[in-house]
Amino acid sequence: MVLPWHETSRQWVPRSQRDNTGNGEVVTERVVLAYSGGLDTSVAIGWIARETGAEVIACAVDVGQDGEDLDVIRKRALACGAVEAEVADARDEFADGYCLPALKADALYMDRYPLVSALSRPVIVKHLADAARKHNAGIVAHGCTGKGNDQVRFEVGIGALAPDLRCIAPVRDYAMTRDKAIEFAEENNIPIDVTKKSPYSIDQNVWGRAVETGFLEDIWNGPIEDVYAYTSDPGADQQAEEVIISFDRGTPVAIDGRSVTMLEAIVELNRRAGAHGIGRIDLVEDRLVGIKSREVYEAPGAMALIAAHQELINVTAERELARFAGGVRQRWSELVYDGLWFSPLRRALDGCIEEVNAHATGDIRMTLHGGRAVVTGRRSDESLYDFNLATYDTGYTFDQSLAKGFVDLWGLPTKLSARRDLEKNG
Ligand code: ARG
Repeated sequence: MVLPWHETSRQWVPRSQRDNTGNGEVVTERVVLAYSGGLDTSVAIGWIARETGAEVIACAVDVGQDGEDLDVIRKRALACGAVEAEVADARDEFADGYCLPALKADALYMDRYPLVSALSRPVIVKHLADAARKHNAGIVAHGCTGKGNDQVRFEVGIGALAPDLRCIAPVRDYAMTRDKAIEFAEENNIPIDVTKKSPYSIDQNVWGRAVETGFLEDIWNGPIEDVYAYTSDPGADQQAEEVIISFDRGTPVAIDGRSVTMLEAIVELNRRAGAHGIGRIDLVEDRLVGIKSREVYEAPGAMALIAAHQELINVTAERELARFAGGVRQRWSELVYDGLWFSPLRRALDGCIEEVNAHATGDIRMTLHGGRAVVTGRRSDESLYDFNLATYDTGYTFDQSLAKGFVDLWGLPTKLSARRDLEKNG
């Protein structure tokens, strides 16, 4: 028999187990579980109850994963033995509070991955912490393994928002392997179809989709078409399509002249850029835990928005600021990838990123075709591009006579060191 954890380790007896009523009454511990509605977290409800003796509250967060109806998920959690089930529509919150800062930073981990899963964890964590407070739970549980980044993001996030909560992960901490989970589901009549299991491990939200495992673990194997769900085959014959995205200080505010919210902008571009196979990424990436892993992503809306936004920054940001922003962008992406969304450094970098975006107001025109979103035009009242300075036609205002002295002084250190080396080496 497995003892409830509070009997095996007094040190971890949570507040609610000791006496949170003030009158000596002992209350059953409660666990809030990050619930997806899939096999693993459905089994985890019963598994956690068995391992810990606690009551399980399932908490599902909609970040635009576009799957089943939230009410179906809620009912399944209850049918699987949850004492309560919370479902939260966090789509706008995710788009405005997490995807938008990533867009303003043009955040791409290892220059390629738009942080799809990494961005969703902090918003899920926020809802888990709120649910724990609401239901007087002392523990938060998640379905991650011990090999990935997501365990770090969940637990470091909980530590930042609710340091008094404890975290558990049944797959990692209570040896809930896939085979045992299927066995448990069958033995306990858990209402979930275990045969429906996809060969891949998939995580998706409105910012994109991440697919790993299965035959993709051999990094010589190319992804096949059925790995993808957000994008069509970029090689398939398609008419090129034009789109104009308007930004206000880095925030997309209109597409082809129609105003949009951040969420609407992503959804529309997922559809339109996705139809041209834009935003497919096949990456062997460095996980925080030290492993290199192969992940296939598709993020059509995110990649189209980033391409447009980057271009607007190119024409509106002063040169030194734009150059410095490159380092900020990389550091920001690494912090968020590494589970440090709730960190003072991320907030500090956001301050710099706001400055970079201060003049990013205007329109970007792009052609969507054959897997690529190509910028073909830019227009901004705050552009630093000066036609009269740049033109080679007669009438330019750039004073070329200034260049001669500039070039001499700019090259002076090179000349001095070259002369020294020549004298020394002959
Ligand atoms: N490797 C990506 C990351 O750490 C995605 C992980 C998401 N999980 C998955 N089952 N594909 O952000």
